[in-house]
Amino acid sequence: MVELEELEGVGPAIAEKLRSAGYDSIESIAVATAGDLMEAAEIGLRVAMKVINSAREASKMGYEKALEVLERRKHLGRITTGSQLLDKIIGGGIETQGVTEFFGEFGSGKSQIAHQLCVNVQLPPEQGGLSGKAVYIDTENTFRPERISQMAMALGEDPQKILDGIYVARAHTTDHQMLLAEKAAEIAKNDGVRLLVIDSLTALFRTEYCGRGALAERQQKLGRHIAELHKLAELNDMAVFVTNQVQARPDVFFGDPTKPVGGHVLGHAVTARVYLRKGKANMRTAQLVDHPGLPPESATFQITEAGIRD
Ligand code: GTP
Ligand code: MG
Repeated sequence: MVELEELEGVGPAIAEKLRSAGYDSIESIAVATAGDLMEAAEIGLRVAMKVINSAREASKMGYEKALEVLERRKHLGRITTGSQLLDKIIGGGIETQGVTEFFGEFGSGKSQIAHQLCVNVQLPPEQGGLSGKAVYIDTENTFRPERISQMAMALGEDPQKILDGIYVARAHTTDHQMLLAEKAAEIAKNDGVRLLVIDSLTALFRTEYCGRGALAERQQKLGRHIAELHKLAELNDMAVFVTNQVQARPDVFFGDPTKPVGGHVLGHAVTARVYLRKGKANMRTAQLVDHPGLPPESATFQITEAGIRD
């Protein structure tokens, strides 16, 4: 483990400033932008570049052999959704080191799956979990601890213990939401968090930046937010699970007249994207869309008293 002070250009004073701004590991500096460091440590561009380069060397961030990539990917953690069929189409569960997006209309089950994952991540690996804790950023005030208890009991787990393993925060603005995501990194380091949920990722962006004129700004900020989420997922080996609504497409007359909010910025930025649709009663259909390595298969699951099941 290399200390910040060992980096070229970093003395005790700069190290202190970096730490208090949340840059407490070599990796976090290696993936930072020069602008971020200049602001955090009150240093000039040249020093910032030197520090970043030295952190990249120390953390061996650069090229690696495909074989090493394969080896690392073998160790990716996966969290079960509660439905084996759903797990199967997304490659065995919600993956760590990536951002997974579930989108769909109201009542399609996005928040229910988010709740279920907060329970399941705490299970041991042989039961589909990662023996880790969860952070839940709630933007719509739909987090329900009672539902968590119900799902925990259905699995024979102690509800108190499961509730104790979930950090919940309500986000009120997009800035607040982004700040809470940063804070999740701190909790992750100190308390073994393996799952971050943002339910919903886009709702606040949609209300704060409405109208055509605000679209470019909204997309840029959303893009930055997702880039931060990727960093968080990779540096802490955790799964990031986000939900998203669909919006009407006035230009489509045939086929599905809805599309996820956020358009292409989001579509290409997330690791896996799943479209949820309502079926009869408690039945739901999930379809994997635009995945780099898996076919676009669908699966049906149901939302029961016990939670998400086949
Ligand atoms: P929005 O946030 O409004 O966009 O919807 P969402 O996709 O988050 O929907 P959510 O996950 O909240 O799903 C709500 C649906 O889950 C309800 O319509 C119910 O059908 C189902 N549901 C919620 N709680 C229970 C429960 O305790 N038992 C059963 N059987 N179903 C439940
Ligand atoms: Mg919801």
